[in-house]
Amino acid sequence: MAMIILGIETSCDETGIAIYDANRNLITHRLHSQIALHAKFGGVVPELASRDHVCKILPLLKQVLAAAEVNLQDLDAIAYTAGPGLIGALLVGAAFAQSLSFALKIPAIAVNHMEAHLLAPLLEPNPPDFPFLALLVSGGHTQLIEVAEFGKYQILGETMDDAAGEAFDKVAKILQLPYPGGPALEKFAEKGSATRFRFPRPMVNRAGLDFSFSGLKTFALNCFHEFGNDAQTRADIAYAFQDAVVDTFAIKCRRALRQTELRRLVVAGGVSANKVLRQKLNALAKTESAEVYYPRPEFCTDNGAMVAYAGWRRFMSGEKSDLEIKVCPRLHIGSVQ
Ligand code: KG4
Ligand code: ZN
Repeated sequence: MAMIILGIETSCDETGIAIYDANRNLITHRLHSQIALHAKFGGVVPELASRDHVCKILPLLKQVLAAAEVNLQDLDAIAYTAGPGLIGALLVGAAFAQSLSFALKIPAIAVNHMEAHLLAPLLEPNPPDFPFLALLVSGGHTQLIEVAEFGKYQILGETMDDAAGEAFDKVAKILQLPYPGGPALEKFAEKGSATRFRFPRPMVNRAGLDFSFSGLKTFALNCFHEFGNDAQTRADIAYAFQDAVVDTFAIKCRRALRQTELRRLVVAGGVSANKVLRQKLNALAKTESAEVYYPRPEFCTDNGAMVAYAGWRRFMSGEKSDLEIKVCPRLHIGSVQ
């Protein structure tokens, strides 16, 4: 069935818009990042994020339509991120999508941001078949999920405290690195020593698949206070922190693959852009005779393409569209209510 979907992402600090065609895959996507806007505050300022989405959403839509050579009248549906995320930022995208869908008399589909992250690897060539194990690692979430089929998610484990991305960001701040901390810490850790510090691997000696990262953050802080005034020491701390996080993920992924007997591992969310994590999980997949799948790096972090794709999947599975603006700062992955 010919079907052209517009995807709109505004859950945090990126305005993302994309057009997905069920027959031709992804056609076009554009992203406006607010990094420069928030950098001087060292983190996202929610009110500034909402205002910037208001300013950028329409010009970005015009750019995407022009680049895709698609008219508004060609659209069959509009997918928007309903949550989880910052409430004001979500409202901008949701109200925009609902207004456009009302004017064009086409459905507006609420999309769960985490489901969109999880499905992002399916936009790549050779996508994974269901069922698979998913490691979802973003700024707000860290979850191991058994994905039986589209829409059928069982959470096997999750973080008890900080999300992995959040821990990267906080440790980066301790180490005086610029915002956003995750990519900055990865780069900085390249200069670090592999042998100077060894951080603990949290919760690996306990049964189960849950995570905890706040202790690593404290470990980094203590290390910094004790040793960390020079650049080399800070890089050594960055290395040891990243090594501990990545190693913990590998240990828990191995455990989850064995427990579920699944042979496909999907890794998604902002932290899945991390190259050290990818190396480690690629090696794990080899030893476990499993396949591992990632989004392309630009679709690890927030983007409109994953929202358009998830919206299309939801639409095809019979998701109802109505005029209600559905936004919610906290949402379970299987739901948009
Ligand atoms: O998925 P995402 O864009 O937003 C959320 O839904 O949360 O994830 C953003 C998070 C941030 O915490 C960021 O520091 C982290 O992903 N991140 C990384 C890397 N790139 C982004 N963490 C570690 N290494 C990276 N290369
Ligand atoms: Zn995200």
